[in-house]
Amino acid sequence: MSTSSARSASREAQRRVVIDVNPADTSDVIAEVRQAAAADVEPAVARAKAAFEQWRDVPAPERGRVLARAAAITRTRADELARLLTREEGKTFSDARGEIIRGAVLLEWYAGEGLRMGGRTRPSEMRSTLLFTLRQPLGVVAVITPWNFPWAEPVWKAGPAIVAGNAVILKPASLTPVLAQRYADILRDAGLPEGVLQILPGSGGEVGNALVDHPDVRAVSFTGSSEIGSDVYARAARRLAKVTCEMGGKNAVVVMPDADLDVAANGIASGAFGSTGQRCTATSLCVAHRAVAGGLVERLVAHAKKLRLGNGLEDGVDMGPVVDAHQLDSVLGHIEGARREGLRLATGGRRVTDGACERGFFVEPTVFVDVPPSARIAQEEVFGPVLSVITVGSLDEALAVTNGVRYGLSSSIYAGDASAIMRFVERVEVGMVHVNSPTVGGEAQIPFGGIKWSGVGGREMAEEGLEFYTELKSVFFDYTGHARDSKIY
Ligand code: UN1
Repeated sequence: MSTSSARSASREAQRRVVIDVNPADTSDVIAEVRQAAAADVEPAVARAKAAFEQWRDVPAPERGRVLARAAAITRTRADELARLLTREEGKTFSDARGEIIRGAVLLEWYAGEGLRMGGRTRPSEMRSTLLFTLRQPLGVVAVITPWNFPWAEPVWKAGPAIVAGNAVILKPASLTPVLAQRYADILRDAGLPEGVLQILPGSGGEVGNALVDHPDVRAVSFTGSSEIGSDVYARAARRLAKVTCEMGGKNAVVVMPDADLDVAANGIASGAFGSTGQRCTATSLCVAHRAVAGGLVERLVAHAKKLRLGNGLEDGVDMGPVVDAHQLDSVLGHIEGARREGLRLATGGRRVTDGACERGFFVEPTVFVDVPPSARIAQEEVFGPVLSVITVGSLDEALAVTNGVRYGLSSSIYAGDASAIMRFVERVEVGMVHVNSPTVGGEAQIPFGGIKWSGVGGREMAEEGLEFYTELKSVFFDYTGHARDSKIY
């Protein structure tokens, strides 16, 4: 190699190393992670195809037991994994621990699917003929996960894919590749054969697209922004691959006059500021009936003011940083834009750089009030600790505001009157609706996902999460043993 090409190869190698730092303290380096390139996708797919041929023949209950063992390992290592998660993503230790345990529960659920998964039988119009369906794996599937749930997302996407008998190539977010790698290590320790799960850290534009475009990748499960999700969907559609995209949200909480305001304020604050608002399910709109708006805002501001910011590993810290400098600029940009539009700030709005926050990306918990539903901050996903309060005069007006955004992920109503609650549950245009509880969260046993700009291609978790990673084959089994004419039924 000539000196100049050696130099450019080493520059290239450097460009491909991402320094994974703690967003609460950028002097804390977690890892230097080598990024894969588009050229790494082909050999990964070849390895996955070979692994698939073996893995598909392993009986499903046995595949499930690998997940069960991984769940058990996860539970014993929960504290250590949670500490690492806090360092890598920034959320508080208790949120991180919750995320780790949620992953364990998902693994336990899908371990059980190994015993349950199957098709069904149906009677035939013909004698001595059995009709049944087989649920079969797809082959090689790609999973693309976001940085805000660096453990739970890889678990809840790859878990069902693996128990269904597929081989998985997982591209974690460039900002948070370490937890995904830990997941792969735990599955290996639990007995998952080589090649069934490969982690390919790299950029979405390069590695992600190469996976989405690869003719042998049968399905793509993506979680991230709606903008990138719509591109993934379009690309995969060109070659008719199966896709599920779980994307942004603009989630509202409606508060009616008969709500318990302390309970409502608590739920709204935890939905808006928990995990620093970096959840697709985060509460970002509070739609308050005018009879209670004043009292509610007072309580919300008091909640926001008493939150302690800092490194999520420290005791007493309620809210961590946003994930990086780019996210910091984006959140501050939304706040600045709202101020320029003349919106009224009730609390927060600034970056915090003093004391425990001097080496991280911290933003104050922020509340805007009297926000018109058409304001940008009331329409766009902020993905930070920013709440907009909109005042309305009736349930129907509240529904119009809640449904008047392009997203449709999650929403909530705080009320006592059962008819109002059920009207809201029926008419709200979202995939998930909460009653007297925050907009956030999800459980392994019930489908997770949204409509409109929030989701396309099928729900995750529960049985639906497994269905995505399988095909149904319909079998017509004639056991008469003699010739029969074909008839049209
Ligand atoms: C939750 O609210 O606990 O990216 C789950 C996200 C979602 C997961 C949220 N895919 O925020």
